[in-house]
Amino acid sequence: MSDILRVEQLAKNYGAVRAVDGVDFGIPEGICFGLLGPNGAGKTTTIEMMEGITAPTSGRVLFRERPIGHDFKKKVGIQFQSTALPEFITVRETIALFSAFYPDPRPLDEVIALCSLEDILERDNQKLSGGQRQRLLLALAIIPKPEMVFLDEPTTGLDPQARRNFWELIGRIKAEKTTILLTTHYMDEAEVLCDRIAIMDHGKILEIDTPDALLAKHFDGVLIRIPYDDCCSDKLSGFPGLTIRDDTLELQTNKLDRSLKDLLAAQVNLEGLSIHKPDLEDLFIKLTGGSLRA
Ligand SMILES: Nc1ncnc2c1ncn2[C@@H]1O[C@H](COP(=O)(O)OP(=O)(O)OP(=O)(O)O)[C@@H](O)[C@H]1O
Ligand SMILES: [Mg+2]
Repeated sequence: MSDILRVEQLAKNYGAVRAVDGVDFGIPEGICFGLLGPNGAGKTTTIEMMEGITAPTSGRVLFRERPIGHDFKKKVGIQFQSTALPEFITVRETIALFSAFYPDPRPLDEVIALCSLEDILERDNQKLSGGQRQRLLLALAIIPKPEMVFLDEPTTGLDPQARRNFWELIGRIKAEKTTILLTTHYMDEAEVLCDRIAIMDHGKILEIDTPDALLAKHFDGVLIRIPYDDCCSDKLSGFPGLTIRDDTLELQTNKLDRSLKDLLAAQVNLEGLSIHKPDLEDLFIKLTGGSLRA
């Protein structure tokens, strides 16, 4: 599959701040690509350079192998991390207004159905809940029938049900073969939606691959977790693969039976023990040394 969009040695300085520090990656056509990283990692700066909104300090962005030019904006849809909506007009009027900006907009009924807006069409923009507002912003991004959409933290602040509803909308857009670039702070979201992910911190890409390949690369087996207590940590000091995080001792093992027997033999208090299959949250913490939402 060829890359629809590629960045080469892309960098951005804001004064003394190196917000993006020379990143290289490509986004294959038709996939959902997740850009993940803690606050301040450089995600929005990267995505805005890819959108052609922010000029890079150095490096370049290629859309279908060519530097992005004027007509690029007609081919992509953008949902910003924060956006103002026109005041004192309804959802229906907002969609109609934005449709008028494009020569060949998607039919209104299709936009409304894709983004599940039927129930809020007559509501004033200012009276929308967080989830309803995000659905409208997604609708505005897909009006021009874009080949690619950029979604910068579309689900931050939504309740768990609203987030799941939004995933369904993203699934519908993906099913149309539209390429999606998504930033998120939610690892479960990345796991459900993204075919490839890049983990970013301090302006650099730390890892990039499919979620499964990254998990296979960084973890072997399962994680045994035991509530931390001083006495227990003494008994565990000789165990390989041991880490202490917050108030939990974590033991990585690919021989679960053997490790459990060793723990019993060492008379470690196993009350509260749990066994956990490593997920993207664990990977993120391993790579960046912190929780995504910290
Ligand atoms: N316009 C600006 N002027 C100066 N510094 C900026 C500007 N925009 C971003 N920065 C800095 O660049 C760095 C990267 O910011 P960016 O917004 O790209 O991070 P992010 O990964 O999107 O974070 P978040 O998860 O909080 O949205 C931060 O240190 C930020 O303070
Ligand atoms: Mg951001």
